[in-house]
Amino acid sequence: MAPVSDGLVTMEKIVSLCKRRGFVLPSSEIYGGLGSSYDYAHYGVLLKNNVKGQWWRAMLQERDDVVALDSAIIQHPRTWEASGHLAGFTDPLVDCRTCKLRFRADLIDQAQCGRKPSKHPGETPDCDLTGARDFNLMFETTIGPVSEEGSTVYLRPETAQGIFLNFKSYLQFSRKKPPFGIAQIGKSFRNEITTGNFIFRMREFEQMEMEFFVPPDQAEMWFGHWLEQRMNWYTTLGLRPDHLRLRAHDQDELSHYSSATSDVEYLFPIGWSEVEGIANRGDFDLTMHAKFSGQKLEYVDTASGERYIPHVIEPAAGADRALLAFLVDAYDEDEIEGEVRTVLRLHPLIAPVKVAVLPLVRKDGQPELASEVYRDLRERFQTEYDEGGAIGRRYRRQDEIGTPWAVTIDHQSLEDRTVTLRDRDSLAQERIAIGELGEEIERRLRAPWRSPKLET
Ligand code: GAP
Repeated sequence: MAPVSDGLVTMEKIVSLCKRRGFVLPSSEIYGGLGSSYDYAHYGVLLKNNVKGQWWRAMLQERDDVVALDSAIIQHPRTWEASGHLAGFTDPLVDCRTCKLRFRADLIDQAQCGRKPSKHPGETPDCDLTGARDFNLMFETTIGPVSEEGSTVYLRPETAQGIFLNFKSYLQFSRKKPPFGIAQIGKSFRNEITTGNFIFRMREFEQMEMEFFVPPDQAEMWFGHWLEQRMNWYTTLGLRPDHLRLRAHDQDELSHYSSATSDVEYLFPIGWSEVEGIANRGDFDLTMHAKFSGQKLEYVDTASGERYIPHVIEPAAGADRALLAFLVDAYDEDEIEGEVRTVLRLHPLIAPVKVAVLPLVRKDGQPELASEVYRDLRERFQTEYDEGGAIGRRYRRQDEIGTPWAVTIDHQSLEDRTVTLRDRDSLAQERIAIGELGEEIERRLRAPWRSPKLET
């Protein structure tokens, strides 16, 4: 088994695999597509569910100081006045009157103009650019049956605000006191001007955010704690440490609410880019919502009488960007018996399908025994049954979707109820009793894992 590609995978290869194997598809394709919108197909849904499941696991199951929330997408419009989004969630926008395209003024050097051959906006005498003006990224809609009479509301541009709106209720029912966190996964919407780069920047995307409320004098300590926890999460799930880094924001980069932010960055084919931001938001959000709502949003210690507005540490990750990082990191090509194989070396815990059951031939009782094994395994794992085509092609198909193990039923299986268990990465095939398969796969699934790409 010889490695073919050892360098960075291109975005084109990822896009092509995602379409070919049913991970991610361009949205509304029969109508020519819709800019920066994508649909998750079968394997993409399974993969993303696993990424989100591992995030929930790290936030909820493995800790006892974080609780869950699923808040509304459309919230009271004053939310966005208080948060500063209505006034300040803008990008500077430049229009070209000639090619009718829009560009982010601060990224105009990287933009391509719409004409052929493509130029940078402003590069030719024909380019006719407007001055920069602020463009709010929030999508507007109206509540009520008649749009003219309804009130304007917004699709949330981040899940975080739903957490702040519920802080007071959580203090009352959750039996938690600072330090504690509220975690949420859900869709957010931004009318992004700069699009492209596949699912890295979309207008509709999923966030995994947690707001951790702490006594003010503990904020710095918890900021450090969450930087470490979040980096560990990515590497434990297999991202190569040398393709991951933490980058602290410079003072002039910080958001209006933040006193310190560090980005978790991954080395994507487009270069080092943000997967997650971890911010010390201070007491900005609770103070602002208290002011706009007239409610007291503070913690009162009933024993000591101490009262304070908690400070907030926020690890804010994108589910789509995390998924893209896992795909890029896992993508590999090697050569087996003169043939190039594409393989996704995903951590087994996030692989869409854990095990494939394949009868060697479609006769001699093998499909019947394979179906029995399949029905048994699917009780415990996401399992696929495939009996069509040459066995080599069926292995390749599973390799391409990242299935870590394949069970093959052959003529010997009918004699002694053993099967072969094939490993996606090492290609080792082990003979194992059908009765022990479930336990063996469970054991392998829970074992520590590191990317085989680290060895090459
Ligand atoms: N509550 C803080 C917040 O929303 P952010 O850095 O704007 O911070 C957090 O967003 C994460 O959400 C980003 O690190 C990124 O992974 C993801 N994200 C933001 N905008 C996105 C977009 N247009 N498409 C895909 N993911 C996006």
